[in-house]
Amino acid sequence: MSSNSIDSLLSESRRFPPDPQFAAHAIATPELYERAKADRLSFWAEQARELHWSTPFTQTLDWSDAPFARWFADGTLNVAYNCLDRHVLAGKGDRVALHWEGEPGDTRTLTYAQLTAEVKRAANLLTARGIREGDRVAIYLPVVPEAVVAMLAIARIGAVHSVVFGGFSAESLRARIEDAQAKLVITADGGWRKGRVFPLKPAVDAALAAGDASTVERVLVVRRGGNDVDWVEGRDLWWHEELAPMDAEHVAQPFPAENPLFILYTSGTTGRPKGILHTSGGYLTHVAYTHRNVFDLHAETDVYWCTADVGWITGHSYVVYGPLANGATQVLYEGTPDTPHPGRWWELIQKYGVTIFYTAPTAIRSFMKLGDDIPRSFDLSSLRVLGSVGEPINPEAWVWFREVIGGGRTPIVDTWWQTETGGIMVSALPGITSLKPGSAQVPLPGISIDVLGEDGAPVPRGSGGLLVVTEPWPGMLRGVWGDPERYRETYWERFGDKYFAGDGARFDEDGDLWLLGRVDDVLNVSGHRLSTAEIESALVSHPWVAEAAVVGASDETTGQAVVAFVIIKVAEADVATAEEAARALRAHVAEQIGAIARPRQVYVVSELPKTRSGKIMRRLLRDVAEGREIGDTTTLADTSVMQIISDRLR
Ligand code: PRX
Repeated sequence: MSSNSIDSLLSESRRFPPDPQFAAHAIATPELYERAKADRLSFWAEQARELHWSTPFTQTLDWSDAPFARWFADGTLNVAYNCLDRHVLAGKGDRVALHWEGEPGDTRTLTYAQLTAEVKRAANLLTARGIREGDRVAIYLPVVPEAVVAMLAIARIGAVHSVVFGGFSAESLRARIEDAQAKLVITADGGWRKGRVFPLKPAVDAALAAGDASTVERVLVVRRGGNDVDWVEGRDLWWHEELAPMDAEHVAQPFPAENPLFILYTSGTTGRPKGILHTSGGYLTHVAYTHRNVFDLHAETDVYWCTADVGWITGHSYVVYGPLANGATQVLYEGTPDTPHPGRWWELIQKYGVTIFYTAPTAIRSFMKLGDDIPRSFDLSSLRVLGSVGEPINPEAWVWFREVIGGGRTPIVDTWWQTETGGIMVSALPGITSLKPGSAQVPLPGISIDVLGEDGAPVPRGSGGLLVVTEPWPGMLRGVWGDPERYRETYWERFGDKYFAGDGARFDEDGDLWLLGRVDDVLNVSGHRLSTAEIESALVSHPWVAEAAVVGASDETTGQAVVAFVIIKVAEADVATAEEAARALRAHVAEQIGAIARPRQVYVVSELPKTRSGKIMRRLLRDVAEGREIGDTTTLADTSVMQIISDRLR
């Protein structure tokens, strides 16, 4: 982030103290902070006891093999039982769990009793197809109820899911299936997006045909899009045909608290995505606790809606596990925000009487651009809590969100966390915290955050530094799948016993935390994490490209945008024009990784700025991409390079 924007952020002076009426009924109380401070571990044990344990734990944290944590390790539980059966047994079977809305406007409502029955049948199906405790199952689905059913059914039998976002390419899917050695894939023919069916099954076919994905024995296909699909006899099975004869009874077995629950791949600083591993008891404790307190969930009356796709961590923690563990009623929407009209989200809030709404700054900014009239033509008065996640929310967007969507009444919780943290770490608590637009504010009770300098010492308030978590927490990742060394190196090597998040941050004078963006080569485009190295390797895999450098340039809507600089191998005449090359390479990246990684711009250059040791100086390329004056070039091996590049782009 440029120092200008930091200064404008820090001069933000608007404050929104809690409404006393809201505070009077708030779930979170100031006492939470006190209890957590007095005894952090008993505080977490207390939170864990909100769940149903088949064998109660006697041990809270085992940190003897740090940085590999074990939480509640001698306890056993079943995650799906906690999200389903327990609510039905408590007499809440008729409560709606999911109000699902397809993009074309078709709907399905599933009560807790119905969802439980579906999950039981799916669990029986998985078992019948040979899936056992510890086996990995890949999920590549649109946002349909079957995605939730599949995740919970896998959890129910102690297997491990790896959900791959439906926007990822066949190649990305292949890499993830292979890394996790998945035995089964659950996909759909296609799903609805932007008014038409986008096929998913062909990507699975391609992923399994390419390379060595021999571990996959079966592919279960949900019928959603109705599009034609190729069929591999003996491998492919229709989900609905397989499920129909299954028994709706299934007794959930308990598994140890540290049983792996899921792997979720995320981008790191190398070209290879890492499989973030989460386990059961600690993760569920963390997401249920945060979901209840951060969103002030009153499960009997609230209608909660998180707009994230189940393919991202937000969809795991705050669509599936947190809300269902808490017995919440929620909206699940398949499509894009602007299909078939730009007021679709507001229409859904009105239709279902949504009370708690959790989304991303990018979406808020794009709605802001479309003007106030669209949201103002819907009745949004049911809303009482708004949440933001994925990237810093600029104060302008924050205030717009509160005024136009929240009717000037609703608290906004800006929640900082990561795939690795499992659940929310830093956020205001509605009814307690006096809100400050643009700041993620305070560590949650039970979470210890600090901001350190390069030397590992805490920096004074008001100074920028590196965000660390200083104590283990229940939802923390338990490792990188199949690569314990990478886990140590990425998160623990820098500061020893403190978790290094990869984000820059500073505490202001009041002790509120401001996030300043990634400090590594990770981009954040529309709240989605992408790695410069991964996009660079996609670019150089194209036969035209000799070298590539990718940077994140600030973008009004998406936060950051991907900008690539490439050196073309073949004589430029053969590629016709730089425009043609740029077009082809943008498409190539989308095909290799997925549309979210498609560069906003590809610049064909003849040189890249490098230090004498050959390291690309991305800082200078960022200056070019953002149209700034180019910074200090004295450490470049060839100082004229930047002049050549910027002349060329002018
Ligand atoms: O840079 C931070 C940013 O998103 C990164 C985590 O990305 P991911 O693992 O994909 O998870 C996104 C959803 C939790 C962080 O390292 N980030 C996330 N939330 C915020 C944020 N930056 C600023 N403010 C936030 N509220």
